[in-house]
Amino acid sequence: MADLTTEFLGIKSPNPFWLASAPPTDKEYNVRRAFEAGWGGVVWKTLGMEGPPVVNVNGPRYGAIYGADRRLLGLNNIELITDRPLQTNLEEIKRVKADYPDRAIIVSLMVPCEEQAWKDILPLVEDTGADGIELNFGCPHGMSERGMGAAVGQVPEYIEMVTRWCKQYYSKPVIVKLTPNITDVRKPAAAAMRGGADAVSLINTINSITSVNLDSMSPEPTIDGKGSHGGYCGPAVKPIAMSMVSEIARNPETQGLPISGIGGVTTWRDAAEFMALGCGNVQVCTAAMIYGFKVVEEMISGLSDWMDEKGYTSLQDFVGRAVPNVTDWQYLNLNYVAKAKIDQDACIKCGRCYAACEDTSHQAISMSADRVFEVIDAECVACNLCVDVCPIEDCISMLPMAAGEVDPRTGKVVQEEYANWTTHPNNPGACAAE
Ligand SMILES: Cc1cc2nc3c(=O)[nH]c(=O)nc-3n(C[C@H](O)[C@H](O)[C@H](O)COP(=O)(O)O)c2cc1C
Repeated sequence: MADLTTEFLGIKSPNPFWLASAPPTDKEYNVRRAFEAGWGGVVWKTLGMEGPPVVNVNGPRYGAIYGADRRLLGLNNIELITDRPLQTNLEEIKRVKADYPDRAIIVSLMVPCEEQAWKDILPLVEDTGADGIELNFGCPHGMSERGMGAAVGQVPEYIEMVTRWCKQYYSKPVIVKLTPNITDVRKPAAAAMRGGADAVSLINTINSITSVNLDSMSPEPTIDGKGSHGGYCGPAVKPIAMSMVSEIARNPETQGLPISGIGGVTTWRDAAEFMALGCGNVQVCTAAMIYGFKVVEEMISGLSDWMDEKGYTSLQDFVGRAVPNVTDWQYLNLNYVAKAKIDQDACIKCGRCYAACEDTSHQAISMSADRVFEVIDAECVACNLCVDVCPIEDCISMLPMAAGEVDPRTGKVVQEEYANWTTHPNNPGACAAE
């Protein structure tokens, strides 16, 4: 059976599923129950320095975006870092770590961008016996207005400076958690690496307003008539997170920098995809908040079954395997030709493919009087819109044409020329590729 044991930065955990820093990891009670349910590790909800208490709003903190079946697709929150006393958290971390030596406990931290503040808190964290720290440079609301969280994560020089302090005053692994609220995520990742970070984790939440109440004319969640942007997470952010992860994984400047993948991980497949893109493990928040801690059972069994099927015996067999296949647009093979094919047995004759293609795209689907829908190969550019709008999975497929066949749309022989498109001189990216 596949071995899910993970050694991320030398920190062992029985599986690659860690809970991300958030309400599920805010207290001993939760973390113990999470470990009993099977989670491999946790990143404890972000601790701040001793001082003025952190005070959360006393109204709704969350907003959501739903699919048609009211399944939650995206979650928005305006919550701050932990509002529990530092000392209480430190004592709880120490107790839980002592009782669960085989699980990973990482402590998330956010203190002001001053050396003394880090120098003060790091020995306290070291004393808990936790396995490492994660620097929260990503929280996009509440703390960022006070010069912390995303306010640090958006300035590579600050990231490098604070990471260096942490490496100086703390002996265990330092993970830098990145904000997605930035144009080019490679820059903060490279800064973290220059500062000596052992790894980066991403993404934290994305600035968002999920809805506006059209009676009170205020963004939701609304606190006494006003709302502010929050942080967006859940399944909706996974594509953004994976793109950012892949940018870091394939950037020569950050080559070899371990990555912990976060953002919308809900199933074993999501986790496997992040890991194929170079993540040594994954962190989960929204899925646990929606479905409870036991959701990890399906993640573990699903990943293990898939690995057995594929003949992978350890995670290392597939971590990073998709990275070489992430490329820039100009390296895509323009001689590759596919055509849509509709499975008539599966088709429910709803006509959504026809409406989409006829009205907005390439007029490449015909509709007969008795509602039989067929692809017109001579018009089909294989854009995939019909596949995307079809309500029946696998009813419409994109089938590649074989080399030597003639594309009825262009009259050209498929893939006969330029078998190796990437290095062909007519490829605008060929020079860069060499
Ligand atoms: C209610 C809530 C509170 C959060 N608090 C923190 C926090 O204190 N520190 C932190 O680094 N990230 C925090 N996050 C962000 C998560 O750790 C994670 O990066 C984000 O939710 C994306 O993962 P997901 O799509 O699995 O939820 C919070 C997220 C939510 C929903």
